[in-house]
Amino acid sequence: MLLIANAEAWPGFSTTVDQLKAGTDSLEAMIAGISKVEAEPKVRSVGYGGWPNMLGVMECDAAVMNGDTREIGAVGAVPDTLNVAALAHEVMKRLPHVMLTGAGARRFASEIGLPVKDMLLDDSRRVWWERLKRELSPADLKVFPDLPLAPLSRAITDPERVRDTTVFVSADSRHGIHAATSTSGWAWKYPGRLGDSPIPGAGYYADSRYGGAVCTHTGEMTMRCSTARSIVLALKLGRSLADAVALAVEELSDLSEGFLGGVVIHAVDANGGHEVVNFRCPGEIRYWLWSDTMAEPELRAAKTA
Ligand code: GLY
Repeated sequence: MLLIANAEAWPGFSTTVDQLKAGTDSLEAMIAGISKVEAEPKVRSVGYGGWPNMLGVMECDAAVMNGDTREIGAVGAVPDTLNVAALAHEVMKRLPHVMLTGAGARRFASEIGLPVKDMLLDDSRRVWWERLKRELSPADLKVFPDLPLAPLSRAITDPERVRDTTVFVSADSRHGIHAATSTSGWAWKYPGRLGDSPIPGAGYYADSRYGGAVCTHTGEMTMRCSTARSIVLALKLGRSLADAVALAVEELSDLSEGFLGGVVIHAVDANGGHEVVNFRCPGEIRYWLWSDTMAEPELRAAKTA
């Protein structure tokens, strides 16, 4: 049994490990861990404590994928909702759809009893407003938000950390390979922007027969390359896990136009292997690893592509 998550998973990783050890369903166990990450204000890229869109509104994205059945539940740009990974799971279980966004996703959350929650931390509101004050002229600030946001959106390209997320992938010969994600997305994003965390094949993919992959950082890159799906398809076509990840990195490297940024790939195969590779994200990137041969989870350094 193997579990991998990015460094932001620290508030919930051991919860997931404990639940996996106790035999809880893998997706339920990962959602229990992610719920703790979503509730932790010190994690500044996921749930409560994350960063709002350009209007100062929190819009969260999340997804789950069952690698046994290739069923998916995803939600995007969801306002006023803490447990969006759990919401995505309910989309998968209760609806004939794969993805809900915006007001429809919030409506569904209310139908299944998830409370409306003000997701904006005072510090996030303060940092957002300070940033706007730096970017806008006094005249524009006076009429905000009644002005075109697109130029502002192009001007604000924050450091990598604000496009982070939390991602979990589990692999087990008996229980299959499954993936889950949750994020508040790109700070100061244009309202309605979806990252890769809800997009199947970009920010996550799982197929218990071959492997799974989950990505963090620049969704605008992985969405253009179908990064997670590419890795699992390469595994299906007989590539080793290292080769499959190298292929995905090559595709990311081929992009030379449009918005370019870093990506971290976390991938597992059906033979118990794993690879975590940093493509152009500054600084040391670390990830959580636990397997049933280890006494405790370990925080390890990702390889650099
Ligand atoms: N990878 C998270 C995002 O692009 O929003």
